Order: sequence, then C-alpha cells, then structure tokens
Amino acid sequence: MKTLETERLILRPFKLSDLDDFFEYCSLETVGPNAGWSVHKNKEESKTIIEGFIKKGDVLALVDRFDNKVIGSVGLHQKPDEFGNMQTEIGYVLSTPYEGRGLMTEAVRRVLEHAFLELDIDLIHVYHFKENKKSRRVIEKCYFTYVGETVYQTVSFGKKESLAYQLKKEEYLKLREELK
Ligand SMILES: CC(C)(COP(=O)(O)OP(=O)(O)OC[C@H]1O[C@@H](n2cnc3c(N)ncnc32)[C@H](O)[C@@H]1OP(=O)(O)O)[C@@H](O)C(=O)NCCC(=O)NCCS
Repeated sequence: MKTLETERLILRPFKLSDLDDFFEYCSLETVGPNAGWSVHKNKEESKTIIEGFIKKGDVLALVDRFDNKVIGSVGLHQKPDEFGNMQTEIGYVLSTPYEGRGLMTEAVRRVLEHAFLELDIDLIHVYHFKENKKSRRVIEKCYFTYVGETVYQTVSFGKKESLAYQLKKEEYLKLREELK
C-alpha cells in the first residue's frame, strides 16, 4: 500500500529502522493478545514480522506526526474465507499509551477511503474478540455493519469467539455522501 496521510498520522510502509518502536508496542501485554498474537519476547521476533510486512506490502505503519514515532499499524489482508474464496480483512493495533484519542478511527477511515476509492475493493471484513469493546467502538465509528458471531482463527491462540462485521463499497459511498 502507498503512503497515506491524516491530520495527526502518516501511514506508510514499514522499514527495518522501525524495529525499536515496533518492538516497544509488540512487547506490551495489552496489544498483541487483543488482536490474536502473542507478546513479542525479543527484537529478533519483531524483525522477522517487519520483514514479512515489507515483503507482502499489506500493512502500513502508523507514524505519530507529533513525535515521529511508529505507534501502531493497519493492515489490509487477503485471506481465504471458510469456502476458500479470497476476502479482504482489515486489522489494526495501537500502542497503549496512544489509546482513547480517536487515532485508530482516524487511521482506519483513511485506509477505507483508499481501499474503496483507489484500490477498488468491493467488500471489507473486520473482526474483534467478544470482549474487545474498544475495537468494537472503532468498527462502529468506521461505518461497518454487524454480521454475526463467528469463530476466528488467531495467529497464536487457536480459534476464539469473535464478532464479524463488513462494509460494502456501495454502502460506504452512500454514507460518504450523507456525511458531507
Ligand atoms: C482497539 C484500539 C485499536 C483502539 O484504538 P483507539 O485509538 O484508542 O480507538 P479510538 O480512540 O478511535 O476509539 C476507541 C473507542 O473505544 C471507547 N472505549 C475505550 N474503552 C472502552 C471500554 N472499556 N468499553 C467500551 N468502549 C471503550 C472509547 O471511548 C472510544 O469511543 P468514543 O470515541 O465513542 O469515546 C486499541 O485499543 C488497540 O490497538 N488495542 C489493542 C489491539 C487491538 O485490540 N486491536 C484490534 C483487534 S480487533
């Protein structure tokens, strides 16, 4: 994905030089486990993940314009659904000290705009664990429609009870007009 900008953030591809900032938030108990992956135990582990992001190009680093620090990420992933059809899923994490200021809503809205208007994606899925009220709120604020309960295959913890949402391009474009 290309670099995107918002009022408070720059969303740009990861670089290997982001390792220290990336490890800082990936080593917090409050971040990865809420998104289905284990806390990073060392920088080697984080480096391997960044290398994967760079290779695949489907994750953007969130850079705080104020202190020029990488404070989270948003990804647009192509994944097979239960029938093997490819679908687009958005995923995101934010470093805990930066929570509660609307930053992730700002970032996700910008990525949705890019996905629907420039990448011409027709449908985007998003999931959160049942107990993750903060993520649920971000999803609501980003215009997604609730689909139902599901069992989500996590990276590190097997299957977890989750809630599924989706947003169609046509719905997004209609809402965009209404909100103007
Ligand atoms: C979920 C996450 C991305 C939210 O980021 P953020 O920048 O704080 O999100 P925002 O500030 O845009 O919105 C958070 C909303 O949750 C609300 N909220 C916070 N704590 C809450 C709680 N315990 N119960 C209900 N709502 C809560 C906030 O009030 C805010 O809503 P509001 O604007 O209506 O007041 C961030 O907490 C995070 O990365 N957590 C760890 C990883 C994770 O959960 N990733 C998502 C996996 S699906």
